[in-house]
Amino acid sequence: MNFLKRFFSKESRLPRVNIKQRFELIGRVGQGSMSKVWRARDLNSGRTVALKVLHKQKTEELEARFVGLNKPKEGDIAVQFQHPHIVKTFEHGLTSDGEQFLVMEFIEGYSLSFLVEAQNEDMRTNCLKYMIQLGEAIQYFHKENWIHRDICPRNIMVNNEQQLKLIDFGLVVPNTPPFLQPGNRTGTAAYMAPELIKRQKTSQQIDIFSYAVTCYEMLTKRLPWKSAETMEAVLQHINSPPKPIQELLPGINPQLADAIMKGLELYPQDRWQTIDQMLVPFKEVYQSQKTAVAQQNPASSESSSARPASGKPEKQSSREKSDSNSKRARSSQKPAGKTNEQRLRRRKRKPPGEATAEPPENQEQPASRKKAPSQPKPGNPDESH
Ligand SMILES: Nc1ncnc2c1ncn2[C@@H]1O[C@H](COP(=O)(O)OP(=O)(O)OP(=O)(O)O)[C@@H](O)[C@H]1O
Ligand SMILES: [Mg+2]
Repeated sequence: MNFLKRFFSKESRLPRVNIKQRFELIGRVGQGSMSKVWRARDLNSGRTVALKVLHKQKTEELEARFVGLNKPKEGDIAVQFQHPHIVKTFEHGLTSDGEQFLVMEFIEGYSLSFLVEAQNEDMRTNCLKYMIQLGEAIQYFHKENWIHRDICPRNIMVNNEQQLKLIDFGLVVPNTPPFLQPGNRTGTAAYMAPELIKRQKTSQQIDIFSYAVTCYEMLTKRLPWKSAETMEAVLQHINSPPKPIQELLPGINPQLADAIMKGLELYPQDRWQTIDQMLVPFKEVYQSQKTAVAQQNPASSESSSARPASGKPEKQSSREKSDSNSKRARSSQKPAGKTNEQRLRRRKRKPPGEATAEPPENQEQPASRKKAPSQPKPGNPDESH
């Protein structure tokens, strides 16, 4: 009976691939809570790819939460996306052991979590540009009628060409009534919308909330609420107002500050109704800052900052150093081009007119680094992904 079920299921139509034969595994690049990711050479095409192999049991547990709804698989969803700010997935299938795998373009660059923590010049200069790129990726998602459900810096990378890429589609669901019903609390606690936490009906506005938390963190290195690591902590704070972003960044453009705070509204009816609406002020501020920078310094009109200028020199954090080192090691496999370290040094030499703000004082570690709130607990549907 099980055999027949499998025979007629979608899974049986996926190609089975012996990944050890098909790929040369160059090195592990990531350990997500649900998968292992390798930098690999695809021996069929000769190209370097990111190979993501999903943890079989955890994936089954996740899929069991959507039982009866026929939730599309991560690979089925990912191969459909064609957007400059969404990682390209070339193919997906099943390993000989029956694990789902995805073959993606390999992104040379940094995790947004690293950039949030480093607050280096790249981040200070390009933060608003990255916020808009992320917004455009979500806009595409929503137009294609999906809900991402796990927007957070851990699931975003920035490549060496300063292009942001959304990378993880493990929790994506269709934006259709069965998937909007109250109950399923998958996601990452600190970024979860109140209606999701309270097990109420959801909508694409849960992504708007997570996007607003992510933007807040990108600008301030902090989360809008203290102690947002666990579901319990989030449940306690969710009814209290978030810390106004202006208190952390007094010089922030007010239009930008208001736009982010409106994304964090407790009730969906008070929040931005669509991501299109939220992006309007971001783009207006970006354009006006770009024009101002171009007038001040015609040679550097590309950059635009969301923050007031400080002109303080930047110190390289130990994380940045170790990241540079590991990237340097990796770059020995690259055919040509500059290493991230060279790029960072080059960016540091930009004229001070482009420099922006130093990070606020007394910063806390972002919750996503203190603890991985995304660890699933088997059998507990309340826990985050
Ligand atoms: N296309 C890619 N190119 C380079 N590195 C990647 C790529 N995709 C994923 N990674 C690396 O692998 C890590 C884990 O990937 P991903 O977030 O997709 O896995 P996950 O198991 O679903 O994660 P989570 O912990 O969010 O559940 C990323 O943080 C990143 O470091
Ligand atoms: Mg992830």
